[in-house]
Amino acid sequence: MKRDIIAGNWKMNNNKEQTVALINELRPLVKDAKCEVVVCVPFTSIETARKALRGSNIQLGAQNVHWAPKGAFTGEISADMLAEQKVKYVIVGHSERRQYFGETNQSVNARTKAAIAAGLKVILCVGETLEERETGKTATVVTKQTLEALEGIDKLGLKKIVIAYEPVWAIGTGKTATAQDANDTIAIIRKVVRKLYGKNYARSIRIQYGGSMNPGNVKELMAMPEIDGGLIGGASLKAKDFAAVVNDR
Ligand code: PGA
Repeated sequence: MKRDIIAGNWKMNNNKEQTVALINELRPLVKDAKCEVVVCVPFTSIETARKALRGSNIQLGAQNVHWAPKGAFTGEISADMLAEQKVKYVIVGHSERRQYFGETNQSVNARTKAAIAAGLKVILCVGETLEERETGKTATVVTKQTLEALEGIDKLGLKKIVIAYEPVWAIGTGKTATAQDANDTIAIIRKVVRKLYGKNYARSIRIQYGGSMNPGNVKELMAMPEIDGGLIGGASLKAKDFAAVVNDR
């Protein structure tokens, strides 16, 4: 049986002191969670978060990783560096990285491979823009993103991947995809996985929804058969809201 996974994406928020405060508030609130719980913190908070999470059921995540093992890549962090810090999950290909930092399906693929090789699990993000949705390109876009991100990754690698479907227009906007739309697009992504890896892998891979998920809409979204969790931005910055998403799913 696969377990749902709710991951918080803190983005560029929380210094070390705020990291400790948020984690300390969150720990008791999610201690009985039935799903997997992850917080993806800024690089500078990783060590602090690791200590604050000790003995809890919350796993440590990061928000990006470079594809090279080391070298002249100013400002980047390697997968081994994250693994050394006991990071378990890393987000790859978030739409903000694609939009502001030139991330492509090819770099997403390279980062994913490097993360897996270092023993990390990957939250691999795909999703269409508003214009793509309005012009009927959603299926084509998410299919291409998924195919190219998974290029050359074998079945063992796939087991380390969670896919997050995040329609770009729903991120941080308060607009959520309808539960039905989210479900339908995730079904398309799952079909790509089936084509590449077969039925069992398609069934067992976890695909999250992300984009303005919050305590008010989590039940409806998580009731959909294709949705196996959530990637939570804004609502993950408040312990009570994030805990409500974790516990009400
Ligand atoms: P949001 O962000 O929940 O604030 O929409 C989700 C994300 O970007 O992962």
